[in-house]
Amino acid sequence: MMKEDKVYSVPREKVDAFEFDGQVADVFENMISRSVPGYPLLLDLLEVLTEQFAQPNTNCYDLGCSLGASTLRIRQHLPSTCHVIGVDTSPSMVERCKSNMTRDHSSATAEIRLQSLQETQIENASIVVLNYTLQFIPDKERLKILTHIARGLVPGGILILSEKIRFMDEATQNATTELHHAFKKHQGYSDLEIAQKRASLENVLVPNTLEQHQERLRDAGFISSDMFLKCFNFVSLIAIKQRE
Ligand SMILES: C[S@@+](CC[C@H](N)C(=O)[O-])C[C@H]1O[C@@H](n2cnc3c(N)ncnc32)[C@H](O)[C@@H]1O
Repeated sequence: MMKEDKVYSVPREKVDAFEFDGQVADVFENMISRSVPGYPLLLDLLEVLTEQFAQPNTNCYDLGCSLGASTLRIRQHLPSTCHVIGVDTSPSMVERCKSNMTRDHSSATAEIRLQSLQETQIENASIVVLNYTLQFIPDKERLKILTHIARGLVPGGILILSEKIRFMDEATQNATTELHHAFKKHQGYSDLEIAQKRASLENVLVPNTLEQHQERLRDAGFISSDMFLKCFNFVSLIAIKQRE
């Protein structure tokens, strides 16, 4: 049974910076599906993308794998000769993710590492997933990470990048933020929960604009990127490494 997210339901005197700790890991499945519009569809689309782009005898990476929701969807749709590597810096997430992976009996092998994505060697990869994780990495490190990923992909390999985005135009930014909050209210979160979570993510989750993402992907070596999903201020992009 999925445990309901009540992390921000009680008033706090001081709202600390958001952390992927044990309390969050316990309810994360519920938290992400009620906070990120389009998340269940993204997981379904990951299955389709995996079937289309996974290449036999390659590695597939899930960087910032949390509980392994994306890792599992990829693994279950891979050729048996592929190997899946999930990495995350949160010990609470990694512990639970490992246990989730042992209950899955897909034929592709898998390993979950307590490791930062900055330290992860990307090699012989046909699929790399970065779902809602780059936004937590300092902005100045983001290009280097994408460049490293582009180099580690085999020709025809893909990066799937999902992020919360911001808008340069203030009116669009405000209107979209309001829609996101309306979505969260619709999911049963109170105004207090929405306000306290927002405060905790301030300066922790730092979103870029869609244009910044597209430009950075180009600078990293991807010829083109395509937005395949957009729900309010959340987007998913696919960037393909050119075949030689
Ligand atoms: C929003 S969650 C990702 C959700 C997940 N990708 C999914 O689809 O369910 C962000 C995750 O990134 C992890 N994280 C943050 N910084 C990281 C880093 N430098 N290296 C690896 N993981 C990181 C966090 O611990 C957290 O579990």
